[in-house]
Amino acid sequence: MSLETYLQSRSKTVDAALNRLLPKATVKPATIHRAMRYSLFAGGKRLRPIACLAAAEACGGKIEPALPAACAVECIHTYSLIHDDLPCMDDDDFRRGRPTSHKVFGEGVAVLAGDALLTQAFEILATARETPRYKTRDLLHELAVAAGSRQLIAGQVADLEAEAKESTRAELRFIHEAKTAAMIIASLRLGAMSANATPAKLTALTRFGRNLGLAFQVIDDILDVTQTSEKLGKSAGKDLTAQKTTYPALIGLDAARREARRLTKSSHDSLRPFGSKADQLHALADHLLTREF
Ligand code: IPE
Ligand code: IPE
Ligand code: MG
Ligand code: MG
Ligand code: MG
Repeated sequence: MSLETYLQSRSKTVDAALNRLLPKATVKPATIHRAMRYSLFAGGKRLRPIACLAAAEACGGKIEPALPAACAVECIHTYSLIHDDLPCMDDDDFRRGRPTSHKVFGEGVAVLAGDALLTQAFEILATARETPRYKTRDLLHELAVAAGSRQLIAGQVADLEAEAKESTRAELRFIHEAKTAAMIIASLRLGAMSANATPAKLTALTRFGRNLGLAFQVIDDILDVTQTSEKLGKSAGKDLTAQKTTYPALIGLDAARREARRLTKSSHDSLRPFGSKADQLHALADHLLTREF
């Protein structure tokens, strides 16, 4: 299967599962359920849930048992975007090709839609089946740690605190590892755990996810400088105005591109233990390096 077909097919599966698992837009209070669905079904790339399913497959598992984890990580990711866009954070008006949640529903409901998606993630993940190696509480713990104040939130805090200040490469790497790579690593590991993967496979996927996640954020920072808002579906050029610490700002565009290529190459190396079972993960890593949005 070509990567394009693979992405389309997995994306459809994830969307159908999310639609099934989220409260309908008419459930009271309708405003909050409409707001949750507005951001969730706005056309994201679904990178994290697809990585989750592909990791399950790379470990010899099926898609079905990995679906609760795949939906849970997309709920967390979408919540993080709603809050990231708030006026008190990155102050963005445009996301996934639409006005941001707070522009449509107001700040109060946007904060609550984020809160609700964060909680929804754990409600969904709690339905995941156990395997001989991993109990449901292991999956819940994995997600809680990645989304918590030492990883995703730590990265968002460091990102805010790095505005309008000189940062070192080590500080920037910490921001990227925490705000972006942690959730990509958790997506892969949760998929693998749903396939009862060996601890050695989990370690290999952690390495893959760290390099992939770091490359992903470097590319996100490059696209912010080089792409149009229309193409990105979110406002371009914001990092410079907000005086964000990014690779293009710190080391220049060419060096940032080289860094993304280096990280992608390392990500491929981490997949050696999987042989041809990881073909789609290899293809995904290359695709993310050359993406235009
Ligand atoms: C955007 O993530 C936030 C970052 C971590 C850079 P994506 O680029 O995966 O956003 P969607 O899900 O496709 O909208
Ligand atoms: C966002 O990083 C990371 C999150 C965890 C939400 P950015 O602030 O660079 O993401 P975009 O560019 O707004 O999507
Ligand atoms: Mg941000
Ligand atoms: Mg942002
Ligand atoms: Mg960005």
